[in-house]
Amino acid sequence: MRVLVTGGCGYVGAHTVRELSAAGHEVAICDNLSTGHRPFGEGYRLIEADIANQDVLAKALDGVDAVLHFAASAYVGESVVNPRKYIHNNVESALKLLDAVLASPARLFVFSSTCAVYGVPRTLPIAETAPRDPVNPYGATKLFFEHALAAYSVAHGLRSVSLRYFNAAGAHPDGSMGELHTPETHLIPLALQAALGVAPPLTIFGNNLNTPDGTCIRDYIHVSDLGRAHVLALEYLAQGGRTTCLNLGTGEGTSVAQIVLAAERISGRKVPYSYADPRPGDPPALYADSALAQSVLGWRPQFDISAILSTAWNWELRLQAMNHRL
Ligand code: UFG
Repeated sequence: MRVLVTGGCGYVGAHTVRELSAAGHEVAICDNLSTGHRPFGEGYRLIEADIANQDVLAKALDGVDAVLHFAASAYVGESVVNPRKYIHNNVESALKLLDAVLASPARLFVFSSTCAVYGVPRTLPIAETAPRDPVNPYGATKLFFEHALAAYSVAHGLRSVSLRYFNAAGAHPDGSMGELHTPETHLIPLALQAALGVAPPLTIFGNNLNTPDGTCIRDYIHVSDLGRAHVLALEYLAQGGRTTCLNLGTGEGTSVAQIVLAAERISGRKVPYSYADPRPGDPPALYADSALAQSVLGWRPQFDISAILSTAWNWELRLQAMNHRL
């Protein structure tokens, strides 16, 4: 299929682009490079533009069968202090993208959603039927867009899969790409950078929570496993699959303390850390029931937490060798 990937130079988008082309799809990327990395798009047609640019999008969508939409702002904390940015990028601009898609013949759409649509869950593991009650503007904007997709499916026949990721983590096994956010706020890169001495000691947010070791539990899912799920979602839609939302996680919860131990084992170094209060709005435990994605898509995660940490460690070593410049 011919596919357009918005945000294809970002972390999850770029890994998905690799999986799409490995599966034989013809990929073009639309990325404004506000947070994406040009080298991640090398070897692909890169349209350097904003998703709200209707003229560019109309041309980019010519002959395209499907759109995979990753371009978005994705910091939970920033969304609390600057909600306008999130409403603008993740809702207003994203709706313009949908206008351009509806004006084109493309009728298949895969959306990068998030477990943040659930807010603080009442039961674990979290299934797709759990109440959607986001506790921050980031989650609210992603949920709004899911609703828009559901409505456009009924009204306009735009079939879609919204993939609700849990904690995207790890790096490409060939070492060519991985996580590089500015600023970096995610646990695994910060722990590994602390081990390398290129970042301050890790701050562990909360050590007295209602979890077995007192630290937060999350469901870390390898970014290449996420990429493969997007390819399967696209193929599901191409075979006539109906609009749906699917969780993507391993179903296994890992605590922050367990991540620190695993980071020490893989790096062979100590991870210096101290404790601080929990981050406001951080749920103590989140992990997925991914049975639906497994049955609908035939998807199984292939990377465990050790593989996540070791691919992330290789990437950190490479970044350090490049002085964190791509
Ligand atoms: N954490 C620390 N210290 C840090 C960074 C994180 O202890 O310096 C902890 C957090 O409290 C959390 C866990 O490590 O328990 C993971 O934190 P991340 O910041 O790596 O990821 P989040 O779980 O906060 O965020 C992820 C995705 C978001 C998504 C959110 C849904 O990155 O896109 O899950 O809750 F919205």
